[in-house]
Amino acid sequence: MQNFIKTALSIVQNVYFRIMKITRFKNIDSTNSYLQNLLDEGENVIDNIVVTDFQTSGKGQGKNVWQSEEGKNLLFSIALDMSFLKAEDQFLLTQIVSLSMVEVLKKYLPEESLFIKWPNDIYFNDKKISGVLINNEIKGMMMGTSIIGIGLNVNQTSFDENLPNPISMKMITGKDYDLEEILLAVYKSLSYRVTESPSDSNTSFVVQNYNKHLFRYKQWALYEHEGLIKEMMIVGYDKFGRLILKEKNDREVVCDLKDIVFRI
Ligand code: BTN
Repeated sequence: MQNFIKTALSIVQNVYFRIMKITRFKNIDSTNSYLQNLLDEGENVIDNIVVTDFQTSGKGQGKNVWQSEEGKNLLFSIALDMSFLKAEDQFLLTQIVSLSMVEVLKKYLPEESLFIKWPNDIYFNDKKISGVLINNEIKGMMMGTSIIGIGLNVNQTSFDENLPNPISMKMITGKDYDLEEILLAVYKSLSYRVTESPSDSNTSFVVQNYNKHLFRYKQWALYEHEGLIKEMMIVGYDKFGRLILKEKNDREVVCDLKDIVFRI
């Protein structure tokens, strides 16, 4: 009987959340690499979710690795069909994913402490609670399948001392959380936000909301830039998602991820 209820529930969820396929691994090198390899082999991976308890080679932004204690945190990747979005608008997906994470986390944590550190780290005050790694397939002028990898620190309470500023949900509230419940909430939020066609009004809603949560937006703070430590202010970002900061002398600089380090 219990199985029947579980199956019925999952059917309802599948219809409501579109048809998704969840693949679970005890451990794997990286959930992003797994989906990327399938995509590269020509498989249709759209709406596939890969979730694992442990990654032996978890990937972070740039050359970073993503570390996570076995079974304690949410580690998953999802492949979404983004072919409706122009390649030049791909930063919109970064913004949407970040907002979905904030939307889910604010059910558990105070919203006023949740920030998006450009481009898509999720912060609780000045500590990192979640990282996002997006690989976009580009087909001519349009996007194709995007692989969105999310690591969320949930129940882990001690981290490698070399990590700059990690925090988890449990470290904030003292409670343990159900990883499955959070996974479904993220999927629900993402699939709801991503299927909306990107009209001007919902794009501006995304931009407003992203700016509202943007870490250090319009505040003077310290950054490493061009080999110097400078006081700068984030004033926005361009169409391609590059960060725009103002220096004390009013000069504006446009930065890619590799050009700027936040001093935290
Ligand atoms: C970052 O902040 O540097 C991005 C981290 C992204 C980590 C997640 S964990 C699940 C997925 N698989 C990976 O190898 N990386 C992403």
